Amino acid sequence: MEKFIVQGNTRLSGSVKISGSKNSAVAVLPAVILSSGTVQLENLPGITDVHTMIKILETLGVLIRRRGRDALELTPGNLSNLAPSYELVKKMRASYYFMGSLLARYGRAEVPIPGGCDLGPRPIDQHLKGFTALGATINIEHGMINLSAEKLVGAHIYLDVVSIGATINLMLAAAAAEGRTVLENVAKEPEIVDVANFLNAMGASIRGAGTDVIRIDGVRKFSGARHTVIPDRIEAGTFMLAAASTGGSVIVEDVIPKHLEAITAKIRETGATVEVEPERIKVKGIESLAPSDLKTFPYPGFPTDLQPPCMVLLTAARGLSVITENVFDGRFNHVDELKRMGARIKVEGRTALVEGGVPLTGAPVTAPDLRSGAALIIAALMADGESQINEIEHVDRGYDNLEQKLVQLGASIRRESESDYQEQAGDLE
Ligand code: EPZ
Repeated sequence: MEKFIVQGNTRLSGSVKISGSKNSAVAVLPAVILSSGTVQLENLPGITDVHTMIKILETLGVLIRRRGRDALELTPGNLSNLAPSYELVKKMRASYYFMGSLLARYGRAEVPIPGGCDLGPRPIDQHLKGFTALGATINIEHGMINLSAEKLVGAHIYLDVVSIGATINLMLAAAAAEGRTVLENVAKEPEIVDVANFLNAMGASIRGAGTDVIRIDGVRKFSGARHTVIPDRIEAGTFMLAAASTGGSVIVEDVIPKHLEAITAKIRETGATVEVEPERIKVKGIESLAPSDLKTFPYPGFPTDLQPPCMVLLTAARGLSVITENVFDGRFNHVDELKRMGARIKVEGRTALVEGGVPLTGAPVTAPDLRSGAALIIAALMADGESQINEIEHVDRGYDNLEQKLVQLGASIRRESESDYQEQAGDLE
């Protein structure tokens, strides 16, 4: 296990280049399987979820050559193995995209049931409902989801729940289904549009991604393609919220401001300033932030993934803020850890009452999940004194070179492995 040691009372200052989107990359990589040629992918983030996805593709038989720090060349060919290993799949939920891509290319897939998550129940019923509508037979036993389809045939599917995963997974399968598929009540996140653009670059016929209705006319063959992954709006939003929380001044570079409108609006409501340019955004904190209520919603609403970092910002605002988490049942794991740092937060079901204006103090805390871990790092930068953030493997899943980027912005943060700590403890004996 590894941890970060962070010094507090830091105002972040400077500019940071935002990496490619994790939630786009973990969908585009399995989608490569559809190609009968060679695919060039660029702007892939250097995060463990991408490394895990690459390992899964290699175990399936995809030939992969690195073409630079953030670029890969992938040639699927005819895959020998259609069953991603449980050991790798359990490391990341997004492995469920292998259901859609293997079904589309080979008419069958055998994927372990995705692991649970600390965000509360995370069913995949909408994914399975859609695959069934497209003609797949599904058998779940021994922890495995076995899907098979003589032929995938286009269907009219209305999702009961707005789901990013189900929208992308069904786009993958429908891209190769015979005839037209209409997906309704779909998610509209930028990552959906990015995956649709990649599939169309390989020869798919997908229209309407980014709106409530996506129309897909299946094709039989997909060519090679070159695709650059969009910037990670959640990483960018994390740095923007960190700038406002620490009273600093930070420019996030290589972003798409349109993807960050909900975050920009919320930060402005607290009184911090946000200057928007075509490919970069500058955020400046102020001494006395105003409280602001927050409600998370699917895009273009405020993203649930930035609710934990935004809660940290609101602990610095003078007054009461009410946060309502509308997407997940259990996305307040960060609250208990923030309370160890002196935050005054009360959780009632899907609502958290944040009494801001109480200075945080450094403490040893533990990251319960990816975005909570990022929130705790921001809190540690604001707090008075030193903090340790344990189990930062969660953070490494979704943030590319986070400590280097923070050091570049003036933070004092260093990574220690548990063994260092044991050695030190040993020295004391
Ligand atoms: C994606 O997860 C993201 N992950 C999550 O980001 C993000 O928090 C989430 O969307 C919501 O924005 C990736 O893109 C890899 P959903 P996903 O299906 O697709 C319910 C991060 O930090 N639902 O949009 O799994 C579900 O329980 C991660 O980067 C069903 O009921 O989320 C939830 O309440 C964490 N049935 C809601 O829909 C289904 O079949 C939204 O989930 C599917 C989902």
